[in-house]
Amino acid sequence: MYPLKDGHTFPYNQWYIAAWSHEVGRELLERRILGEPLVFYRTEAGAPVALDNRCPHRRYPLSRGRLIGDAIQCGYHGFTYDCAGKCVRIPSQDGVPDSYRVRGYPVHEAWQWIWVWMGDPALADVSSIPDGRTIRVADPGWLPEAGGRVALKARYQLLNENLLDLSHLSFLHSDNIGSAGIATAPVTVEEKATHLEVARYIRSDRLDHLPVGKAFGLEGLTDRTMVQQFFPPGLHATGSDFDSAQDGGIDPGRHFGSLRVLHGVTPETTTSTHYFWGFSRDFRRDDAGMTTAMRNIIESAIVQDIDALEAIEAMLGEQKGEIVDVEISARADTASLRGRRLVERQIEREARAADRAEPC
Ligand code: FES
Ligand SMILES: [Fe+2]
Repeated sequence: MYPLKDGHTFPYNQWYIAAWSHEVGRELLERRILGEPLVFYRTEAGAPVALDNRCPHRRYPLSRGRLIGDAIQCGYHGFTYDCAGKCVRIPSQDGVPDSYRVRGYPVHEAWQWIWVWMGDPALADVSSIPDGRTIRVADPGWLPEAGGRVALKARYQLLNENLLDLSHLSFLHSDNIGSAGIATAPVTVEEKATHLEVARYIRSDRLDHLPVGKAFGLEGLTDRTMVQQFFPPGLHATGSDFDSAQDGGIDPGRHFGSLRVLHGVTPETTTSTHYFWGFSRDFRRDDAGMTTAMRNIIESAIVQDIDALEAIEAMLGEQKGEIVDVEISARADTASLRGRRLVERQIEREARAADRAEPC
């Protein structure tokens, strides 16, 4: 499915951000992930739980039931399932067949996110969840902040590629975070063991007239280093380091500050996405006003991205025929195309593994 190859939708054997930690508690939370209906809650001890939201008796949503201790009771006929999904009570009879169960999904809580594994549970290895220090949510020199969740009415790979080609900042975000120099700056793209790393260097840039420049307290010309880390299929840490310009700055080399924006990209369906965003900074960490300023700037840019991506999704919905045939790309798309390929490879690896597992 465009922008991925025809027939490619999602990789399943991957961790996805399903919710903010504060969203999951003793109230039942229903959320669709990769097209599947799930219900989330916490046990009395606080451990997160994810189960298929369809009661296997007659498909009533379990999220409309209630918690009894760590178990969930369906609100239709009262079948009750423990936190591993095993049916433990059927009110109309004594005993429950051993095979009666609802599917449970592996979950893991890290930083302020609940991650879920939608594929083969035997392969769910939490060490593949991106490292908190690398993305600056577990780095003592940085202050991470939760942002929010946006219900994006567009397919997830559009958002992944939006975040991998930040030349769009010069146009789509020219009134808040993007200067003209970003689109023309040279870009490096490097494939690391766990992620794609992209960098841009914009020298002697003028930003102090933009909201981002004012919030950072930028004065005069600025050297801006933009970094993007993409952990396929759905986490990005993007951001900038701002320093007074070596060439023409008012205090050459002075570090104004660094910001990382965290973007969790989780498919809801083939054409809709949960967009979890947060941010982290290394400057004025005890300044609540700065937190609010950063939040407002990031939100203003996200609104612009959502508007653009939903307009593209609407265009794709109208289009007939093979979309990839009419796509053109430029040098600035290098990271997007590499990121697209990484997601395609994840999907293809699963398909090959499934083929091998087919009985002959
Ligand atoms: S549909 Fe859940 S108990 Fe009947
Ligand atoms: Fe954007």
